[in-house]
Amino acid sequence: MAGHVLLALLQLALTLSALVHSQNQPGFISIDCGLVDKPSYTDESTSIYYTSDANIISTGISHSISSKHKTQNLKRQFWNVRSFPEGTRNCYTLVAPQASSNKYLVRAMFMYGNYDGENSLPKFDIYLGANWWDSVMFQNESEIVSKEIIYVASSDYAHVCLFNTNSGTPFISVLELRVLDSDAYLFNTLSLLARYDLGLRDAELVRYPDDSYDRIWRPSDSEDWRQINTLLHVDQGLSSTTSSYGLITYPPSIVMRTASTPANVSNKMEVHFQIGNNSYFVYLYFAEIQKLQANEIREFNIFVNGELFRANFSPSYLQTLNILAIGNGPWLSILINKTDRSTLPPLVNAIEVYMDKNLSQPQTQQTDVDAIMNIKSIYGIKRNWQGDPCTPQAYSWDGLNCSYDGSGPPRITSLNLSSSRLTGNIAPDVSNLKDIEYLDLSNNNLVGDVPSFLSQLQFLRVLDLEGNQLSGIIPTKLMDRSNNGSLKLSFGGNPNLCSSEDSCKSSRAKLVIPLVSSLAGAFILLATTITFCTYRRKQTGTCLMSSIGKNSL
Ligand SMILES: *[C@@H]1O[C@H](CO)[C@@H](O)[C@H](O)[C@H]1NC(C)=O
Ligand SMILES: *[C@@H]1O[C@H](CO)[C@@H](O)[C@H](O)[C@H]1NC(C)=O
Ligand SMILES: *[C@@H]1O[C@H](CO)[C@@H](O)[C@H](O)[C@H]1NC(C)=O
Ligand SMILES: *[C@@H]1O[C@H](CO)[C@@H](O)[C@H](O)[C@H]1NC(C)=O
Ligand SMILES: *[C@@H]1O[C@H](CO)[C@@H](O)[C@H](O)[C@H]1NC(C)=O
Ligand SMILES: *[C@@H]1O[C@H](CO)[C@@H](O)[C@H](O)[C@H]1NC(C)=O
Ligand SMILES: *[C@@H]1O[C@H](CO)[C@@H](O)[C@H](O)[C@H]1NC(C)=O
Ligand SMILES: *[C@@H]1O[C@H](CO)[C@@H](O)[C@H](O)[C@H]1NC(C)=O
Repeated sequence: MAGHVLLALLQLALTLSALVHSQNQPGFISIDCGLVDKPSYTDESTSIYYTSDANIISTGISHSISSKHKTQNLKRQFWNVRSFPEGTRNCYTLVAPQASSNKYLVRAMFMYGNYDGENSLPKFDIYLGANWWDSVMFQNESEIVSKEIIYVASSDYAHVCLFNTNSGTPFISVLELRVLDSDAYLFNTLSLLARYDLGLRDAELVRYPDDSYDRIWRPSDSEDWRQINTLLHVDQGLSSTTSSYGLITYPPSIVMRTASTPANVSNKMEVHFQIGNNSYFVYLYFAEIQKLQANEIREFNIFVNGELFRANFSPSYLQTLNILAIGNGPWLSILINKTDRSTLPPLVNAIEVYMDKNLSQPQTQQTDVDAIMNIKSIYGIKRNWQGDPCTPQAYSWDGLNCSYDGSGPPRITSLNLSSSRLTGNIAPDVSNLKDIEYLDLSNNNLVGDVPSFLSQLQFLRVLDLEGNQLSGIIPTKLMDRSNNGSLKLSFGGNPNLCSSEDSCKSSRAKLVIPLVSSLAGAFILLATTITFCTYRRKQTGTCLMSSIGKNSL
């Protein structure tokens, strides 16, 4: 008991400290994976508060990247990685901060940095919950690969899992979650392909605190382009798309203050992306950042995949306008050229390209996840319980089974915690596993009453409580169900547990002998258990003591 209270307090303390520290960036989770020399730090240039993953993952090994790759310009977040040589699937479970919205941006970043001294670039898969997210592969040891997704979560949990695909050991450098406004972007799941701040100089990038969502805007350039900029503030503009596409989430002013334009006035601007067999969503952002003379005109046409998408478009002075184009792969090409009457070349300030992702495979029902997560923490269960309990189906947690009816989220239908060294009471969280049919808690050191909430589990068909230290009277409703055959109830080997008031009276008539068990603290054994003892608890020592008790009667 005392142990549980301590554990609970410790968890509370950890939760509180995480809350306090993340207050600078509400709605942010920022994890420096594999960080060992300190529990946390604040990144100097971004002021983002990073914590180590040591307390949130029990598997994997922390490594430093090779000193050769620890260059001056390399962000601290990439100095360490956590690698996962064991197991096919390893998962981080991010519990989203309490927030008004369940739209999340999740970003995982990877830099190999020859952390294992093998000079061998691995390739592996990343999953979000039950769904394949992407493959992670590298061009070279110092390339930073970033995977980012914007989606509407069905629960507070974001399970990010790395899958070993037999092409090297999975690892990860950084994991970040940002809560977005619920109406930001489209309602689709958006997997980031590119997010460019055009006109930005090389080697710089823009993110938090300039971008309050911590979107990362990277420079992009072409030999045929010229960079232009202003020091003036660029306002957020009015959306040029309808509200059914969600709120347009404009880039910050600092991104809009720079733009690219063709070096040669009469030239066109072109960008190409490989989309594969996916839909794409392109957000183009424009603002005029040069004060035009009376005789100057900047006007252009925008072609998407060869078709005129917007004709005679003129950006507004120091105000952002957005154009959203949606279509299907395998290619996306954007061509922008000036109209005949335009005296100035076209300009583009920023661009985002997303692909849709099929995250249709649902995660386990949230109430079941909450319940099983609590059960895991209350009893300190040490199994390889990672990621979502029921999904992907082939990787459902050891010791539980789920129902997968296709449409709704999977539910936990059976739980086997037999011989799992459970101590303390039967946790009320068990009663939140509403679809449970089979519950095996046998051969543990559970104490206290058989709680009446178990009788509220309407689908329960098998309840095994044998071989514990439970006491009191089994709730009548459970006994009724057991007697009429709708519940298979086993409760032998609980010295102090009776099936009815009467059976209790008859056993209490005998002598009660107090004993001390090294495991469970002080508790009381009834001498009448000798019969259960002989067949069930021979090895534990408890039985030996109780037979001594009986002999001494
Ligand atoms: C590594 O690959 C990236 C992406 O292709 C490239 O930008 C970078 O220049 C490469 N670095 C080295 C050292 O080859
Ligand atoms: C600009 O492009 C036009 C048409 O391609 C070409 O005739 C002209 O020489 C170019 N000017 C410069 C300065 O490159
Ligand atoms: C592309 O997706 C469509 C619909 O999802 C599917 O029918 C088609 O086979 C896919 N093509 C390829 C090349 O994967
Ligand atoms: C702009 O590009 C389109 C598509 O390539 C082309 O049809 C059109 O003639 C171009 N317009 C000008 C003014 O160059
Ligand atoms: C999404 O993936 C699931 C399988 O995971 C498949 O059954 C479903 O048809 C896919 N939906 C789309 C729109 O591709
Ligand atoms: C889950 O199902 C498998 C296969 O039917 C079975 O072997 C296993 O005992 C079940 N586990 C539980 C906890 O019910
Ligand atoms: C339940 O777990 C115990 C201990 O791990 C195992 O011996 C037993 O076979 C399991 N029961 C089922 C139905 O899977
Ligand atoms: C068994 O008893 C329970 C509780 O009294 C009742 O809800 C259930 O319908 C009964 N089942 C059968 C098969 O009689």
